[in-house]
Amino acid sequence: MRHQPVLVEEVIKIFSPGSNSTLLDATIGNGGHAAAYLQAAAHGRVVGLDVDPAALQDTRKNLGDLSRRVHLINTNFAYLNDALTGGGIIASAPLPTSGSFRLTGFDHILFDLGIGSHQLDNPARGFSFQTNGPLNMQFGPAESLPDAELISLNHLARRLRHFPSAHEIVHGLTESELSQVIRHYGEERLSGRIAAAIKTAHPSTTKDLSAVITDAVPLSYRRGRIHPATRTFQALRLAANRELESLTTALPQALHLLHHGGTLAVISFHSLEDRIVKNFFKEYAILTTKQTILTRKPIRAHEAEIAKNNRSRSAKLRAIKKT
Ligand SMILES: C[S@@+](CC[C@H](N)C(=O)[O-])C[C@H]1O[C@@H](n2cnc3c(N)ncnc32)[C@H](O)[C@@H]1O
Repeated sequence: MRHQPVLVEEVIKIFSPGSNSTLLDATIGNGGHAAAYLQAAAHGRVVGLDVDPAALQDTRKNLGDLSRRVHLINTNFAYLNDALTGGGIIASAPLPTSGSFRLTGFDHILFDLGIGSHQLDNPARGFSFQTNGPLNMQFGPAESLPDAELISLNHLARRLRHFPSAHEIVHGLTESELSQVIRHYGEERLSGRIAAAIKTAHPSTTKDLSAVITDAVPLSYRRGRIHPATRTFQALRLAANRELESLTTALPQALHLLHHGGTLAVISFHSLEDRIVKNFFKEYAILTTKQTILTRKPIRAHEAEIAKNNRSRSAKLRAIKKT
């Protein structure tokens, strides 16, 4: 299913692009935000990154005529500096031709984090406990990823000689290592009993895993606000893609690539991501001793958007101006 972007009006308002503005969309996905930006900036240009080659295949098609003003790169945003300088996008002086994608930096940079419907709704990708599929959860074939915060994941990757899928994490770690992953990346307080149940049952599909987790937790927990497997699935996805580590690595690079006076905006979907963004912005504001944070409190979706797109319920938009 085509991804329905969140907080589009709010992002465009905070950027308020001029006619020739440039955007680095670090997570272009299906191109919803990029399209809105190009519509607002009549001669604007977008460089769009995505780690998922399958997502990029649809992006150009979705953008139609607007895609003439878009340059797409398949990379993890953890390596955005290398991808842009190595790919010749960032140069010390722009070429005189107006259609060129040689830039000295960007006016605006957007991160719309996490997973898109184009990934979640495809059972073969193994991201969802609502459908059955293999326990994969990888955004793309990873040749390189930043070091994981948990040493056990780094050891596992070294042992396997590749970055592990969710299935390999579940089966390759010991029970206590798995419990630590589920607690660390999922903030799951029942991580111990969930890890024990997983190591006993050896689930190999999303439905198996979801059933094992549901059986492992008490009845009261099953009746909670969220599905009992939500936090464990989040933990495995974050661990498989090193999402938090990639974000931590990318934010300073993004700030560096922004023109002075430019805006960096991040949409996050859970507290672990939001904490990284909030702390990064705070540190920058202290360092520059200027009022650079544009969102004292994160911007949230209005009721009308939430009614149309449930995913927007947990979205938080924060933005900072480079001074
Ligand atoms: C929420 S979707 C973005 C949707 C997009 N804004 C749109 O309007 O269609 C997030 C996208 O970011 C990509 N992504 C996640 N982590 C990434 C990373 N570390 N580097 C590059 N892309 C990433 C995912 O593959 C996914 O396509």
